Amino acid sequence: MPSYLITGASRGLGYEFLRQISENPSNTVVGLVRNKSETEVKVKALNRPNVHIVQGDLEDFDSLKKSVDQVSAIVNGSLDYLIANAGYISSWSAYDSLSTLGDDPKRLEEDLLKCFRVNTIGNIHLINLYLPLVLKGDVKKVITLSSGFADDELTTNFNISEAGPYTISKSAMNTAVAKYSAAYAEQGVLFLSIAPGAVEVGQDAGTVKVTEKQIPKAMALGGKFAGYAPHFKGRTMPEESIKDMLSVIGKASVKDGYGGSFISHKGNKQWL
Ligand SMILES: NC(=O)c1ccc[n+]([C@@H]2O[C@H](COP(=O)([O-])OP(=O)(O)OC[C@H]3O[C@@H](n4cnc5c(N)ncnc54)[C@H](OP(=O)(O)O)[C@@H]3O)[C@@H](O)[C@H]2O)c1
Repeated sequence: MPSYLITGASRGLGYEFLRQISENPSNTVVGLVRNKSETEVKVKALNRPNVHIVQGDLEDFDSLKKSVDQVSAIVNGSLDYLIANAGYISSWSAYDSLSTLGDDPKRLEEDLLKCFRVNTIGNIHLINLYLPLVLKGDVKKVITLSSGFADDELTTNFNISEAGPYTISKSAMNTAVAKYSAAYAEQGVLFLSIAPGAVEVGQDAGTVKVTEKQIPKAMALGGKFAGYAPHFKGRTMPEESIKDMLSVIGKASVKDGYGGSFISHKGNKQWL
């Protein structure tokens, strides 16, 4: 009876993780979300008794702390998989370089801090709070959702100057994952950063909205992606990305050298 905790399960990739994993009735799946009642209405349509929703905000340590006892009661004190999926994707800084964003230094600072607070600090608190449950689990896998943007070679080889604040926060989290692995691999805990590819999460994605002014910039970024991956024909759907990631997560183990690594939904360093 494997147990899963998935953050950001309200929508996008997190919801699809929850949907696919809970297809197997022997899995116990807990979604950690900011908007509990809204998400409960959404998951009700699935009609699956193995799905549970608990409140928690990555920017609110106390809410995360409070969630642990509730989750523990649902999963009987041990957690097999922690999937740290929730993330803040800034639309303001998505299509400009750090130097252009620096024209508004105050806003740049706020944007950097917001990305870092959610994507890095929030996830570090989350992992620290849930590690005791993970250590009691049979599977012991902690997965964080990263991004191909956080690959510095991709950045430099293809001049991906955009989305600095988001990228920096994801790179920092990749380093945190390596640090956790260094501390816990001996106890059999797999820490893995995985990038989902470029995935269409729809209009209800709260964060990335392209303004009129950003359209040419978004197209320029698309051109860089095409230079990197000529086969890339546009965003994939969540169903496919989650299926691919679950396959990689299933196979990856400390024993096979995946501890602390940063890979894509393809199980390698091909991001698109
Ligand atoms: N989609 C892609 O192409 C892509 C590519 C690379 C990496 N990723 C990564 O994949 C993950 C999921 O992305 P997505 O595309 O599904 O994004 P999304 O549709 O914008 O969903 C983001 C999720 O994170 C939650 N969230 C945001 N801030 C939070 C906070 N402070 N505390 C708790 N939850 C919070 C949101 O909850 P609310 O509903 O409450 O806002 C939502 O459930 C993210 O880590 C993202 O960086 C996605």
